[in-house]
Amino acid sequence: MIQVSYVSRASTPLSPEQLLSLLVQSRRNNTAAGITGLLLYGNATFLQVLEGEAEVVDALVERIGRDPRHAGVQVIGRKVVPSRQYADWSMCFERVTPQALGEIDGLRDFGAVDFRFETLARDATVVEALMDHFRAPHWDPLVRELDARDRLIAQLRKGLVQARGRAEVATLVIESLVEAGRKGALGEEHLRLAESALAQVRHGLPG
Ligand SMILES: Cc1cc2nc3c(=O)[nH]c(=O)nc-3n(C[C@H](O)[C@H](O)[C@H](O)COP(=O)(O)O)c2cc1C
Repeated sequence: MIQVSYVSRASTPLSPEQLLSLLVQSRRNNTAAGITGLLLYGNATFLQVLEGEAEVVDALVERIGRDPRHAGVQVIGRKVVPSRQYADWSMCFERVTPQALGEIDGLRDFGAVDFRFETLARDATVVEALMDHFRAPHWDPLVRELDARDRLIAQLRKGLVQARGRAEVATLVIESLVEAGRKGALGEEHLRLAESALAQVRHGLPG
């Protein structure tokens, strides 16, 4: 398994439609070829990471290099990796804006970093920081927020079920005590049962 990263310049700035067509084509081919990766685009500059079996990736890099939609493909790194770093994406895609760059933790140290061919081709550390950022499972703040909401809802649901369960046990304790009391049959047995049920309610043990 290898991972190749490169930067290149778009021949002309790509329209959203052209980008979409490129992405659809890439995802279709990559799914069939077992390739995963990342494609970033901004300022008519591409940064792409491709990973998969060496033969397949090398052949694709060569094919991509001949694509007239861009030029000046400069390979930043080609390394053997033990496993995929973008396993979830046949091609993760993001348009990179100056604002988005400012929000990336790993890039703050670099000051005002431009997503431009010159900057990326010169500084592999910036490329690494970008690759790290987009590799993180929850780099998208919206996804993070949705996940946090899901977790909160799951927590609330669990709490509600537990609370209902406890209320049910507490009701049973009270009912059995009232019933036994009314019959004048409130004995040691009832009290022991009530006590252990009460302990369960207090400590949140399953009833
Ligand atoms: C910046 C850029 C990234 C590309 N990435 C991929 C890719 O990940 N996978 C892919 O199959 N083709 C990619 N292509 C397209 C290839 O250059 C080529 O057009 C395509 O693989 C041909 O496939 P086809 O058999 O669908 O015509 C990319 C092209 C450019 C300009």
